[in-house]
Amino acid sequence: MNNNYKRTLVTCALPYANGPVHIGHLAGVYVPADIYVRYLRMRGREVLFICGSDEHGVPITIKARQLGCSPQDVVDKYHTIIKDSFAQFGIGFDIYSRTSSKIHYKTASEFFRKLYDEGKFIEKESEQYYDEQAKTFLADRYIVGTCPKCGAEGAYGDQCEKCGSTLSPDELINPHSSISGSLPVKKKTKHWYLPLDQYEPWLKQWILEEHKEWKPNVYGQCKSWLDGGLQPRAVSRDLDWGVPVPVEGAEGKVLYVWFDAPIGYISNTIELIPDQWEKWWKSPDTKMVHFIGKDNIVFHCIVFPSMLKAYGDGFILPENVPANEFLNLEGDKISTSRNWAVWLHEYLADFPGQQDVLRYVLCANAPETKDNDFTWKDFQTRNNSELVAIFGNFVNRAVVLTHKYFDGKVPQNKKPEQIDTDTLGQIPAIKAAIEDNIEHYKFREALKEAMNLARLGNKYLTDTEPWKVAKSDMERTASILNVSLQICADLAVAFAPFLPFSADRLNRILNIEAIGRKLTWDDLGSAEILSAGHILNAAELLFSKVEDEQIDAQLAKLNAEKAANKAAADAARGTQIASAKESCTFEDFSKMDIRTAKVIEAERVPKTDKLLKLRIDTGLDVRVIVSGIAEYYTPEQMVGKQICILANLQPRVIRGIESKGMILMAKQEDGKMRLVSPEEGVISGSQVG
Ligand code: MF3
Ligand code: ZN
Repeated sequence: MNNNYKRTLVTCALPYANGPVHIGHLAGVYVPADIYVRYLRMRGREVLFICGSDEHGVPITIKARQLGCSPQDVVDKYHTIIKDSFAQFGIGFDIYSRTSSKIHYKTASEFFRKLYDEGKFIEKESEQYYDEQAKTFLADRYIVGTCPKCGAEGAYGDQCEKCGSTLSPDELINPHSSISGSLPVKKKTKHWYLPLDQYEPWLKQWILEEHKEWKPNVYGQCKSWLDGGLQPRAVSRDLDWGVPVPVEGAEGKVLYVWFDAPIGYISNTIELIPDQWEKWWKSPDTKMVHFIGKDNIVFHCIVFPSMLKAYGDGFILPENVPANEFLNLEGDKISTSRNWAVWLHEYLADFPGQQDVLRYVLCANAPETKDNDFTWKDFQTRNNSELVAIFGNFVNRAVVLTHKYFDGKVPQNKKPEQIDTDTLGQIPAIKAAIEDNIEHYKFREALKEAMNLARLGNKYLTDTEPWKVAKSDMERTASILNVSLQICADLAVAFAPFLPFSADRLNRILNIEAIGRKLTWDDLGSAEILSAGHILNAAELLFSKVEDEQIDAQLAKLNAEKAANKAAADAARGTQIASAKESCTFEDFSKMDIRTAKVIEAERVPKTDKLLKLRIDTGLDVRVIVSGIAEYYTPEQMVGKQICILANLQPRVIRGIESKGMILMAKQEDGKMRLVSPEEGVISGSQVG
């Protein structure tokens, strides 16, 4: 491994432009990458930070169909929203471009063409699903049916969103095209494949032997892919949205989105620095790091590296791929289709100016080693008892007291004591711990260390009590505040990668501008950042309390979402039942004599588990009905109950008892039956219809 890199190329997964971005994206990919980049920049390293929208792929065409617009309209809309959200959260990309750009089309086509010309692909015919009515091949996503695993309706040909199973269209029960509704047929089509199997030995050596330091979740996923044996992967699709396959006789075919999207990292670099991009992509002095979520691991660790290897020409490979796990929201998987998410643009509207609070909470709780849960309660607690009570409180006390006793001038430190040396002496270790953690992609730990620095300052003030000392010893008070203000400046450095907006504000309060240079990482823990006589600006609060009402409002919003989802699911089930039976005429219906009735007596039918014998008052007569409800109701529960019955069902003899009619019941989701009862006050024998 090369430890003498001259520059670092950092990429973030290109988000699909088929919806806005939410806290899961931020926590898993963009906040950690931004922390990493800001840290390296503060250390004076040469860094390039690349991202953009991923504007191809089937989901975007589906979204366009749903909205009745073109795929280009969809990506235009979301590209703008996403780009803006990232900018608002201070994610400091050098470029945020898009894969529908001209330069990307050119770069991706040329990339494909070179591999094609050099015979790096396999050409293969296969049978793909085809919609004869719509005259189009169907991506797996376009085929819907009943999930064979959980029975949910509307499962996709590649995945059931209800139970999360990975599926293939062949497994779906009752598959149909979501475009025309017709039954898909198989049709022959030609595609190009990257023979990943040929790269397997090389990948095994490169990852399993040379990158044992990758995060266990990343290494583990790669190992299981490699152990399972790699197959050739199609790099083209029959679709009319994407980069056209640049080969004669490939009409109607585009590059597979996972082939073109990672090339987007390259195109975006070319767009930014057309004359210098090769230094970033083709020099062994460049360290490349891909920040992604766990669902992207195979593409960034196996597929894209194989593409780069196949291309050759000096392209470098990632030095690390610090993928995160997923963030849940209030105990549930974040889901765009169920609108179970905290959208960044909505957060900004509800918590204006509080980007750092979310950055803090998402980093403190980042799903680095396992899936994690975001809760609004935790958001409030971390803000109120960490940001406000520790960091904000310390800075505020130090600055306010300096204004009170020394007119806002940093006082001289002429009377140092042991506690000062002890306190300041702890800073180098904290600095080293932040560095080590960030360099090993452990951002939660790094943030904890930064917060420990704030704790240290807060404790120092509490222990030294300058507001008391001031009554008798101004010289010692001066020393205490001098030390405190140095720690404030240290905090402005330590938190800068994590909380850039608050660090800026702290710089303003401390009037760092007057020093005539920007603080750098190496100022952290240095003897005297602020010299005596330096004039501070007025105190401002760095953080403010998050009130219960704000949290309640967010929870209410989520609850409403849950209720809406349930109603939609119920309605979907309703239409399913309605459409499950053939339609009937009013005459058909009016043949049925449905009426309310009351249970007078109930007993078990001997030697059966399921049957109850019930004596029923129908208002017209008293009769016996045998019903299979003993599984759900005891005889005692039944007596006195108001029910509905089908009164004119042909009598049947069950276990030697003549049963005249049927009790109406509703089958629950779990298969259990419940009685359908009339509202109170409806008298027995009333006709239902
Ligand atoms: N759009 C993909 C996703 O959101 C990520 C693409 S990353 C790239 O999961 F490398 F392909 F660009
Ligand atoms: Zn399912």
